[in-house]
Amino acid sequence: MSLKDAVTTALAGVEDPQGGDVLASGRAAGIVVKDDGQVGLVLAVDGLDRTTAERLQATVEAAVKRVPGVSAARIILTADRASAPAGNARPRETTVPGIRKLVAVASGKGGVGKSTVAANLAFALARAGQTVGLLDADIYGPSVPTLLGIEGRARVENDKLQPEMRHGIKALSMGMMTDPNKAIVWRGPMASSALVQMVEQCDWGALDVLVIDLPPGTGDVQLTMAQKLKPDGAVIVSTPQDLALIDARRAVAMFGEVGVRVLGVVENMAGYCCPNCGHVSDPFGHGGAEKEAEAMGVPFLGRIPLQMEVRTASETAQPVSGETAAIFDEIARSVMVTVGL
Ligand SMILES: Nc1ncnc2c1ncn2[C@@H]1O[C@H](COP(=O)(O)OP(=O)(O)O)[C@@H](O)[C@H]1O
Ligand SMILES: [Mg+2]
Repeated sequence: MSLKDAVTTALAGVEDPQGGDVLASGRAAGIVVKDDGQVGLVLAVDGLDRTTAERLQATVEAAVKRVPGVSAARIILTADRASAPAGNARPRETTVPGIRKLVAVASGKGGVGKSTVAANLAFALARAGQTVGLLDADIYGPSVPTLLGIEGRARVENDKLQPEMRHGIKALSMGMMTDPNKAIVWRGPMASSALVQMVEQCDWGALDVLVIDLPPGTGDVQLTMAQKLKPDGAVIVSTPQDLALIDARRAVAMFGEVGVRVLGVVENMAGYCCPNCGHVSDPFGHGGAEKEAEAMGVPFLGRIPLQMEVRTASETAQPVSGETAAIFDEIARSVMVTVGL
């Protein structure tokens, strides 16, 4: 049995205070086992009061540490911070009927791979059986048309924008709005209201989750978007570089300000593996985002290596494959557990 299987079995033996075990109930997820025996996992404590949550964390930690071969266990508690009182895990209706959950993907600055992560997170959620929409709200540089190979403008039927179906997800982008002759007239001058209209006036049908690729940065536009759309959570993308991390910290603070739960940090462009000689180098450093996430008290969701394959996949409008796809599957699982999908 692999160490991960042993840890999984141990978790199946821990009772969920609300019935069943913590694995079957989906409370424990995102299990990561490192070569040196360090284990990390996410424990969703929604619906539990503080004492019960802390007791459960201790029980889970002890159960994991008892597994032979485990050197350390890190249990990250996640919960909707706004719902402090016991037993208050009320499901929130999103602003759009038919869309169960809104997940924003944000970054402190541009060029860190936010759109790449948003698209591949959307693909991974679809692989996990969810009905998924992807909204590219990047008014400065929409990239979803390229990432998904969408050409031309969005069709309008029955007064509703029609998303394009690609690799099993429904996508709509700011880049599909910009026909100068048939410009859509946004009500209100703000780009943020344009975004809200795109969410509300698009024919999404029933969605389990809408992934929103937010514009980079932490200015008024992003703040207003977060306030108006009230996403169920935000994923922050950063490179391991110090400068990007400072911006990532700002993004976490911004979501805190408007009461949007930070689902975690994804480190992108970590460690470059030379396709010729196999040597792994770290152009932007390594592990910085994980340390930063820990310092900020938000979950670390995963690390995407800097790879030629990621870039060629995005240029040819394909989802990433192989090991990189598996990393996105893990990230998607953590996100699903935390937002309650
Ligand atoms: N892990 C990675 N490895 C290699 N190239 C990447 C990786 N992540 C993103 N890229 C490339 O970097 C560029 C910027 O990515 P993009 O997702 O558009 O960033 P952003 O949305 O943050 O501006 C794109 O060309 C993309 O293909
Ligand atoms: Mg982008």
